[in-house]
Amino acid sequence: MTFDQARWRRDDEPVYEPLLSDKDETTVALSGASTASGDDADSTADVPLPDDLTRDELTLPELSEPELARHYTRLSQMTYAIDTGPYPLGSCTMKYNPKFTEDVAALADASIHPDRPERRKQGTLELQYRLQDYLARIGGMHAVSLQPPAGAAGEFTGILVAQAYHESNGDEHRSEVIVPESAHGTNFASAALGGYDVVELPGGEDGRIDLDALDAALSEDTAALMLTNPNTLGLFERDIEEIAEMVHDVGGLLYYDGANLNALLGRARPGDMGFDIMHYNVHKTFATPHGGGGPGAGPVGVVDDLAEFLPTPRIRRSEMGYEEFDPDNSIGKVHGFSGNWLVLVKAYAYIARLGDKGLTDASAKAVLNANYLAEQIEYEVPYGPFHHEFVASAGEQDAADVAKRMLDYGVHPPTTKWPEIVGEALMTEPTEIENRDTLDSLARAFNAVVDEDDETLEAAPSRTAARLIDQTSAARNLRLSWQALEE
Ligand SMILES: Cc1ncc(COP(=O)(O)O)c(C=O)c1O
Repeated sequence: MTFDQARWRRDDEPVYEPLLSDKDETTVALSGASTASGDDADSTADVPLPDDLTRDELTLPELSEPELARHYTRLSQMTYAIDTGPYPLGSCTMKYNPKFTEDVAALADASIHPDRPERRKQGTLELQYRLQDYLARIGGMHAVSLQPPAGAAGEFTGILVAQAYHESNGDEHRSEVIVPESAHGTNFASAALGGYDVVELPGGEDGRIDLDALDAALSEDTAALMLTNPNTLGLFERDIEEIAEMVHDVGGLLYYDGANLNALLGRARPGDMGFDIMHYNVHKTFATPHGGGGPGAGPVGVVDDLAEFLPTPRIRRSEMGYEEFDPDNSIGKVHGFSGNWLVLVKAYAYIARLGDKGLTDASAKAVLNANYLAEQIEYEVPYGPFHHEFVASAGEQDAADVAKRMLDYGVHPPTTKWPEIVGEALMTEPTEIENRDTLDSLARAFNAVVDEDDETLEAAPSRTAARLIDQTSAARNLRLSWQALEE
């Protein structure tokens, strides 16, 4: 199996594809906006900026359209993307985002300002209302807020909602949030940011919640238990109803981290399992780009008793059609307006296009693909039976080196070294979008690396546009601006 990523450089010029500004430096005089400096007192009124923040000329590359198109195409060939190959990052769920959702987002008029009078933005409100409703039905929740801009932001919002609920019951003393050791780091962070003491729950031998350990951790100080189900090992928490009962018995709330909801779509609902609050990672479960931490969307759903605390505004039916309203005891705003509009439009388009049958199919394929791939690879998978993702162990190899080496075989590697329950973890989630050929190519890459020696692994990657980096220098001598590489 050979693979060589494009490296755009001329033989006589050992630089990578240059910056646009290095291709042409045309200086353009700026009209109007530049004259704040100097004696012209009137112009400072036009440009209310201090002298040192204004300029009267700008260096901009003057390039033809083909030059520009080639530049960006070359750059795109020097990187790895879901449009060029599989991206089996466990838990992160890097799905291909269908182009039709982009078309729908392009149709949705982004120029409609959310401050317009309600009668002039009925279409926007209707879509938001319908999406609230879709999400509530999918999660088995009573009410949904679309505001939070990412999964982690949804978690934090959920924690604030839980806090508001306990305070309204005179339960301010509840100071602890329980988080299983296999949970995503954002669960610990969200609880701590909400001012809670985080109680880490050790996992059971089978990788699931240990009911005795949970019993020991629960007390009248418990505000909530945060769980994802299937958990980050891909294992379904079979005792979920008992877990919910135990948490509720001490007056706590059960929070569902929706990162793994694509394993359950159309088959099981967090609300039916006893969860009180959940967030939806719309970029994982449905379709919107991940976007490096944002802009994304992490809507939050809650059961009836908690609806009054959701962020403001929410959308409801009105005589005119639809209107915004403030929940009675809202925690306030966690984002501008009703969240990241175009991201939510894409999630809406995806759900509407797939419908009940399509969503149920998606969860079947997500689980089937993970199980098929795990059968094909030679690395050990210690825990199972799993759902949409599995965690293999790189054994004596370093999982980070395995990941680097997989790039040399033309595929993106899995998430590595987490969860720590599995030594040298390779957390793999092919998602529902891949076909059998692609899964086989992923398996071939895993199996090509499994017998390779440490020296080869450490030196990888050697077939990608950017080769092995000096990690120590990268951390200690961080360069934050582009510079040509000398070879
Ligand atoms: C299990 C789990 N929970 C929460 C998050 C946070 O989601 P987001 O990246 O949307 O903030 C992630 C992200 O990968 C995750 O894997």
